[in-house]
Amino acid sequence: MPAEFFSEISDAATIPNYYYFDGSTWKASGSGKSVPVVSPIDNAVVGTLPIVTHEEIDTVLQVAGDAQAAWEATPLFKRVGIIHLAADWIRHFQEYMGNLLIREIGKSSDEAKGEIVRTADLIDYFADEAQSIQGTTLDSDNFPGFEKGRIAMIERVAHGTVLAIAPFNYPVNLTASKIAPALLMGNSVVVKPPTQGGISATHLVRIFQKAGVPPGVITTLTGTGEVIGDYLVSHPKVSMVAFTGNSDTGLAIAGKAAMKPLLFECGGNNPVVVMPDADLAATAREIIKGAFAYSGQRCTGIKYVLTTPAIRDQLVAIVMKTLPEMVKAGDPRSPDTKLVGPVISEEAAKRIEEAIAVSVKNGATLVTGGKRDHAMIEPTVLTGVIPSMPVIAKETFGPVVSFVDVASFDEMASIINRSSYGLQASIFTKDEGTGLVFAKKLHVGTVQINGSPQRGPDHFPFLGVKNSGVGVQGVRYSLEAMSRIRPIVLNKPQ
Ligand code: G3H
Repeated sequence: MPAEFFSEISDAATIPNYYYFDGSTWKASGSGKSVPVVSPIDNAVVGTLPIVTHEEIDTVLQVAGDAQAAWEATPLFKRVGIIHLAADWIRHFQEYMGNLLIREIGKSSDEAKGEIVRTADLIDYFADEAQSIQGTTLDSDNFPGFEKGRIAMIERVAHGTVLAIAPFNYPVNLTASKIAPALLMGNSVVVKPPTQGGISATHLVRIFQKAGVPPGVITTLTGTGEVIGDYLVSHPKVSMVAFTGNSDTGLAIAGKAAMKPLLFECGGNNPVVVMPDADLAATAREIIKGAFAYSGQRCTGIKYVLTTPAIRDQLVAIVMKTLPEMVKAGDPRSPDTKLVGPVISEEAAKRIEEAIAVSVKNGATLVTGGKRDHAMIEPTVLTGVIPSMPVIAKETFGPVVSFVDVASFDEMASIINRSSYGLQASIFTKDEGTGLVFAKKLHVGTVQINGSPQRGPDHFPFLGVKNSGVGVQGVRYSLEAMSRIRPIVLNKPQ
């Protein structure tokens, strides 16, 4: 690694004036415009990200397109080697990047450092798995009326240039989960990072560049969604869009991306069903972890719990008793803080506060929490919530869990299936058979039995239905999604 690499990855304030490769040289954006990255911890400016111009986007996408064929033609074992090297360097910078994440997005120390390690492991797993992606052949005589000898040779090829749009809540991991499969399948990648988390994501891209991905094959384009978002997603030189973010943005991107292949992970409101026979102590712990980890800012976060009034009374009592052991709201830099810190901005906190207040005004009962201090929202538990209330109807993305009373299994399924979201659901029961039967009634991507909703382990399939996503992620599934099949048919001479 050149010495310059180490100095770059040592000062967050210097990195954002970032380089893109214009085909002959590395350049910083000449727009003269930038957006500050403001820490949710103390409103301090962590750094600034340039807002690139549309002309710079044109240049970067031209260069990415030009560089892609040579990258795809690079032997897989060499691409695999580069990707493993990037994973090694991410581990090397774990401490630095973890601290940067804490400042940029207010993630707790454990969660921030955990994100970096998980990212390196994920990248390694991608590189290993890519080596087993193979083509296939088909003969013609299986189909009625066809003789033997017409052979389809089906191989996997790149889409071209993949636009990777990542969210603030996992700016390193959910950027890497797009970059690694895209590169391994031979695509060029243009990363549009979130504003908060954009410095960390830019470091990540720099690591891939320094690990040996050729100039132009991977680039970061920073700027606000309002200025560059529509231009990027509808750009004719973008071949595929991989996006993680909220459902409204996902729907807007899908509308603009026209016929491009899409791989989207969007919002979720992830219900939990508690059957009368569930182990309530274990269930309470999973609910707390699922609802409050990273202050509820996970698309897989638990948003509401469906159970009968009798179980709800017992469960809420156990949740309230367990809450102080598992959650300590505070400054994410403090080792004492557990799960809940500030949400991403004061503006976001005000939206959450409002959703709680309106739900309470409409009849929900505040068991604990509900108050806001700048970007901090107290861990909040509500009962008597109905699905039309704002804490459930829209993804709250804050440390709030709502209990909804139901009378029957059918009512539970009907509430879940009526939602516009369909990411995950959890069922808690001692009877796995009952869990399996009920799981099949739910129109969501994944059902967890006796565990909270979650993406990992990262080689498991991960998908949303309805407004929660398009396509399937998870190591092998992402590699497949980031490529297409190319059949070439050898016809038998007549
Ligand atoms: O926020 C969206 C993430 O994909 C959730 O991942 O379940 O590992 O927190 P997680």
